[in-house]
Amino acid sequence: MTPYEAAYADWQGNPQDWWARAAEGIDWEQRWDRVFAPEMGAFGQWFAGARLNVCHNALDRHADGGRGDQPALIWDSAATGEKRTLTYTELRDATARMAGALAARGIGMGDRVVIYMPMVPEAVMAMLACARLGAVHSVVFGGFAAAELAKRIEDAKPRAVISASCGIEPGRLVAYKPLLDEAIALSAHKPDHCLILQRPMLRADMGARDADLLEAMHGAAPAPCRPVRATDPLYILYTSGTTGKPKGVVRDCGGYAVALHRSMSMIYGMKPGDVYWCASDVGWVVGHSYIVYGPLLAGCTTVMYEGKPVGTPDAGAFWRVCAEHRVRVLFTAPTALRTIKQQDPNAALMAHHDLSKLDALFLAGERCDPPTAIWAAGALGKPVVDHWWQTETGWPITAGFRGFGLFPSKPGSGGRPAPGYDVQVLDDAGAILPRETSGNLAIRLPLPPGCGPTLWGSDDAYRAAYLSDFPGWYRTGDAGTIDADGDVSVMGRTDDVINVAGHRLSTGQIEEVLAGHPDVAECAVVGMADALKGQAPLGFVVLKAGVDRPEHEVAAELVALVRARIGPVAAFKLARVVSRLPKTRSGKILRASIRRIADGQDANPPPTIDDLATLDDIRAAMLRP
Ligand code: COA
Ligand code: AMP
Repeated sequence: MTPYEAAYADWQGNPQDWWARAAEGIDWEQRWDRVFAPEMGAFGQWFAGARLNVCHNALDRHADGGRGDQPALIWDSAATGEKRTLTYTELRDATARMAGALAARGIGMGDRVVIYMPMVPEAVMAMLACARLGAVHSVVFGGFAAAELAKRIEDAKPRAVISASCGIEPGRLVAYKPLLDEAIALSAHKPDHCLILQRPMLRADMGARDADLLEAMHGAAPAPCRPVRATDPLYILYTSGTTGKPKGVVRDCGGYAVALHRSMSMIYGMKPGDVYWCASDVGWVVGHSYIVYGPLLAGCTTVMYEGKPVGTPDAGAFWRVCAEHRVRVLFTAPTALRTIKQQDPNAALMAHHDLSKLDALFLAGERCDPPTAIWAAGALGKPVVDHWWQTETGWPITAGFRGFGLFPSKPGSGGRPAPGYDVQVLDDAGAILPRETSGNLAIRLPLPPGCGPTLWGSDDAYRAAYLSDFPGWYRTGDAGTIDADGDVSVMGRTDDVINVAGHRLSTGQIEEVLAGHPDVAECAVVGMADALKGQAPLGFVVLKAGVDRPEHEVAAELVALVRARIGPVAAFKLARVVSRLPKTRSGKILRASIRRIADGQDANPPPTIDDLATLDDIRAAMLRP
């Protein structure tokens, strides 16, 4: 048996005992009555009866336990040229003051706080300050437009919002405050307070509910950690489903802390004091788990990077950060690697930097095409480990395990199930399929600690979204196979979710926006294969009878509409006017067929946008009896 097989068998033999042992890595105010309580929540809850504070586990216990002078957070902003290092003591003290500023405004246990911020240390402090008070944070990614922020404010009903005057994108400043003001105007729910970080490159106009975040912190008394129930919510993170309404995935405190702490050694092979860099954004689950909570729970140093992999200042930016901060493990999305590879195909810029401290590169967020994984492994000469997870699970479902000694990773595969996950491939009726057969990837219930136990405000909505299709299983929404060695390959989604540059988007959400254009009669949005971003959204629209306008004019309006309503992150640039959409006899648009053609599953090489101009005619011909 390999060490991985032994650990997996150990978990299978007694899952509750396995997790109870993992829970020893966390400080508890009060230990649990039961490791798992099956009758609680949508499918059961972990560590029922226990009490802890996640901020204490992430900061105070290290600050007070001998790591006070160790860097906790290295902020490296290629966007501004600034760098800042905060030790565990400094990060704890600043977080306690931010918590104090919130407490002075009456925010406490169970209150929601929306965080809409760029990649600055104050975003990390804001998340941990909420955790300190037992308040529930909901971070909204900065690339979303006001209407999307409004939907999240409407649903989470925050008492406060923490934001900044601006973010920085290549060649432009993104003024966050006007977007926040517009979102609050659009939302029926109004927060009581907005705390704004004034960045020097663009200062925000302040209104009646606004206060300067740094001034508020300066005048605040540090707030202590407040123990909460392990089953209480730590955060809500909204993610795309199949409709325009985002799903508010809830994360609990105890199970999440245990699972993330265990994952840092088991999956990434990190020890306290090691430097870990997750090059994502705090607005995504990857950023929550592996920029903020995971590395800090484990006593590591986390790197927070504000900038892009290329262009700030060059395609060697990632390697510069790895070398300068002595990063041991880098975690990024395949799209980022593809952009680097495009600019620096021979890895010449990589060679300028001393990467001797770097042990491994982890990839997730989208399927990694084998050529990119092979290029990275060859150029770096280090293990490149793909691992598969979702906002809902909060930590990897499958991975390679540095903590158990890596097994050879197969390009295109996401690795093997982590202890905690029984992953199987099911047919549409819910029967387990044999190895090497593709079908629905599902996880046998209960989900392990760390996985989202519910959707905000509704266990029923959670059951309907994930548990009802295959009783006894969690439906991941991904399709794939498991090979003879047990390696899982994730091939794509079974629903209308697409993945653009590692960002999860709902085609239904984009369709809702297109359908709102006055000239559009009906539409379908699909993901089409994109060499850089993996997928790119492509909209087909049928214009209303009598509308006779040039395609480029309508397309430009549709692109602008999606950018204004959903945000630049939708990366919606391609719209085609067609005379009709392929439909079933009963009039349902054949989205799955359009999708298959557009994402290239039916063609090698994949079609180009021009090939798809006549999609309706192709489909009509195919459907003709
Ligand atoms: N605030 C405002 N706008 C933002 C933004 C933010 N935080 N993030 C992105 N945008 C904008 C970009 O400027 C771009 O605008 P443009 O159309 O004017 O060019 C648009 O949104 C699309 O952005 P994106 O698709 O991300 O492309 P990019 O060139 O800006 O960045 C990557 C490319 C690879 C760096 C980026 O997509 C990335 O980091 N992806 C990985 C995501 C991830 O970490 N996922 C989690 C799994 S690891
Ligand atoms: P998100 O919830 O934004 O993290 O997106 C989760 C989705 O991204 C998954 O359901 C998959 O479709 C996709 N995904 C994430 N990681 C991988 C991976 N390693 N391989 C293939 N797809 C992935």
